[in-house]
Amino acid sequence: MKRAVILTNAYSTLPTGLNQAERLKSEFERLGVSAEIRRNGFFASLDKDGTVINNFCGYDFCVYLDKDKYTSAILEKSGLRLFNSHAAVRVCDDKAETHLALAGQGIPMPPTVAGLLCYDAGASVRSNDIDFIARTLGYPVIVKESYGSLGKGVYKADDRHELEVLCEKLKLVPHLFQKFISTSAGKDLRVIVIGGKAVAAMQRKSDTDFRSNLELGGTAKSAEIDERLRDICELTAKTLNLDYCGIDVLYGENGEYLVCEVNSNAFFGGIERVTGVNIARLYAEYICTKIYG
Ligand SMILES: Nc1ncnc2c1ncn2[C@@H]1O[C@H](COP(=O)(O)OP(=O)(O)O)[C@@H](O)[C@H]1O
Ligand SMILES: [Mg+2]
Repeated sequence: MKRAVILTNAYSTLPTGLNQAERLKSEFERLGVSAEIRRNGFFASLDKDGTVINNFCGYDFCVYLDKDKYTSAILEKSGLRLFNSHAAVRVCDDKAETHLALAGQGIPMPPTVAGLLCYDAGASVRSNDIDFIARTLGYPVIVKESYGSLGKGVYKADDRHELEVLCEKLKLVPHLFQKFISTSAGKDLRVIVIGGKAVAAMQRKSDTDFRSNLELGGTAKSAEIDERLRDICELTAKTLNLDYCGIDVLYGENGEYLVCEVNSNAFFGGIERVTGVNIARLYAEYICTKIYG
């Protein structure tokens, strides 16, 4: 029997995530694969020699809807094929790591500076570091928590005072600074790439916020994938070794596209509704071809 496991986070009860798992399960079953949805747990561990002790046998593959990088590492060590892989999820989860991995690969992105890591709550942010950010990126400037999602960890500083306040507030969490792309204020594109092919895109727009995330009240409509957008998104997914992803793309000057961030675990409910593309089916079909030929 063909058997798969779909793993969700150990703690999350977000209906969107659980719904995503159900949608994939039903598409796998259509393809003759019995898929079990499970919450992440201590399915494998390492003994004193680093050998994997596995309590998690009998699955042909795992659709990893979690971002827990420790569990994904151990599951891969046990020989289980994860979609997406441990390394791909780990790099995408950290926006600064994603930027560094994509830099120099011919993928246009907004100018970005990784924040300096601070381990001392008593230390103050240095004035010359603020000067550097202001000089390099100008105002307004975007400040992002490296591990944020759904728009929650993305901020805009309009002047030096706001930047200083944000730097102090975020000092102890990994973060980055990014040029504010004013031509894209309140709108961007979300493109889904599966198995190296861009398969659906939507434009997201907000009238009230510079962040266009649907979770913050943005609205969406289906968008065309022109050749340039396709090339950039497919190259991005390939560079990061992603089987599946949702790429956020900003509108730069003169019709230029700029990769804003890459979501290895992008929710697909919204884009399915807006575009009519059956993302769960395409992803399940891609995985089955990879595993069973
Ligand atoms: N450099 C930028 N310039 C203009 N808008 C931006 C910039 N970076 C992010 N945004 C807006 O903020 C939203 C959230 O940022 P993003 O990096 O995608 O973080 P999240 O993971 O929280 O979605 C984007 O979809 C976009 O609308
Ligand atoms: Mg985003």
